This record gives sequence, structure tokens and C-alpha cells, in this order.
Amino acid sequence: MTNGTNATVNPPQLDRVRRVYSWFARFYDAFRAVWGRWTRPIEEDLDQLFRERIGAESRILELAPGTGINIERLFRWTRGFGSYLGIDSSEEMLVRARARAQADDRIELRIGDATDLQAVGGTFDFVVSSWLLSHLDTPDATVRDALRKLAPGGTAVFVFFTPPRSRLLLAVVTAIGNPFSYRVVDREPIRTLPNLERMSVSAAGMATLAVFRAPPDQAPAK
Ligand SMILES: C[S@@+](CC[C@H](N)C(=O)[O-])C[C@H]1O[C@@H](n2cnc3c(N)ncnc32)[C@H](O)[C@@H]1O
Repeated sequence: MTNGTNATVNPPQLDRVRRVYSWFARFYDAFRAVWGRWTRPIEEDLDQLFRERIGAESRILELAPGTGINIERLFRWTRGFGSYLGIDSSEEMLVRARARAQADDRIELRIGDATDLQAVGGTFDFVVSSWLLSHLDTPDATVRDALRKLAPGGTAVFVFFTPPRSRLLLAVVTAIGNPFSYRVVDREPIRTLPNLERMSVSAAGMATLAVFRAPPDQAPAK
């Protein structure tokens, strides 16, 4: 992003998460393996969505692929795909995603801001974003923008961190959220967005999965 004088301008959110992930990247997969056990129902739901909704021609967009957990999922659970574009702000995370992509020429990994999709051309049959929204100042706006990139009949799935049901746990995750630049996401504004197919909650309230499906005959929103 530029400010018109060719100086690079990064929104504060982006600067904060870049700092976090420049050192956390090396520990991320180990942390993610433990977290993935805790949120297993949602991980399994994602496996099934990849298996059922991605076909040999599907164009896939991922907001914040991180170390490429969903690229691994793509290879494991689909019988093929057309193309994949992943946009993440952290080079340290994407280095690991590139290793997972195994130089597959259908896969493009781009450094950028996933909240600014203006430069992303075309539409997609499958949009996925896991554990990004809690880093954002206006998560529902990012979901709305991503839904505009859906092709008719396309699926978009968002997995995000939501308030635990236990007040004690909520106090703990809120206290440690700041250094990691995350916060719990209010699921209600996301629930009101158009074409929500379903929303499911697991991990004591902390993990929410929202699936959207564009009608087959609906032109993508401008
Ligand atoms: C918790 S990790 C999730 C990674 C991966 N999706 C997963 O499921 O393991 C959050 C990721 O969001 C990225 N991120 C945060 N804000 C971003 C933004 N505005 N644009 C692009 N990436 C962003 C971070 O660099 C990091 O890779």
C-alpha cells in the first residue's frame, strides 16, 4: 500500500502482527498442532468442506495462510484444484507455506494485506480463512469484502476465535491477547451477513466456523 508519494504505509494492525509473527513463526506449527487438537471438530469440518466443495477446476483464495496448514489440507483432502492464491502479511510464515506448496505451479503465495482485496482480480469458487479475524480491527468488514469475491455457487469458510463460555478463561485469553495482537471476535455481526449457510461453535466457545454459500445464479456483488 502506498500513500501517493511512493512511501510504503502499513496500517498499525499490519505492523503489529508482522512483529508478532516474525518471531512466533518458528514455534507456530508446534502451537498449531496442540490448538488443532483442542479445536478438532472444526478441523474435521474443514477437512470435509475441502473434500466436498473443492473440485478439479476450483479457484481458491485463502486470507492469511500462515505456514500453509490449509495447503496441506488441499493436497490431502481434494482430488485436485484449479488454482490457489494465498495472501499473508508475514514473510516468516509464508516461507513455511512455500515449503508445503512443493513448488506446485497452481499455487501463488503473496505478501500483502488480506483486508485489502482491491488488487485481487476475478472471483473464486472457494474462499477460506482460519484464525485471521481475531487479529483484525473490523473482522466483519473483511468477511463482507471476501464474500464479494465469491463466484456464483461458491463457498466461503471462516474459522475464528470467539469468547470462551467460561468467564475465567475469557479473563485469561483477554489478558494474554494483547502481546499476541489478538482479541475475541463478536460472531453476531458475521451471523447477519448474507448467504450464511451455517455457523458452528466448539472448543468451549473459543472456535467458531461460519460457512457462506453464494446462490448459483447470483452475480458477485460489486
Ligand atoms: C493465527 S495465524 C493463522 C494461520 C493459518 N491460517 C492457520 O490456520 O494456521 C494468523 C495469520 O494471519 C496473518 N495476518 C494477520 N493480519 C493479516 C493481514 N491484515 N493480512 C494478511 N495476513 C495477516 C499473520 O501473518 C498470520 O500468518
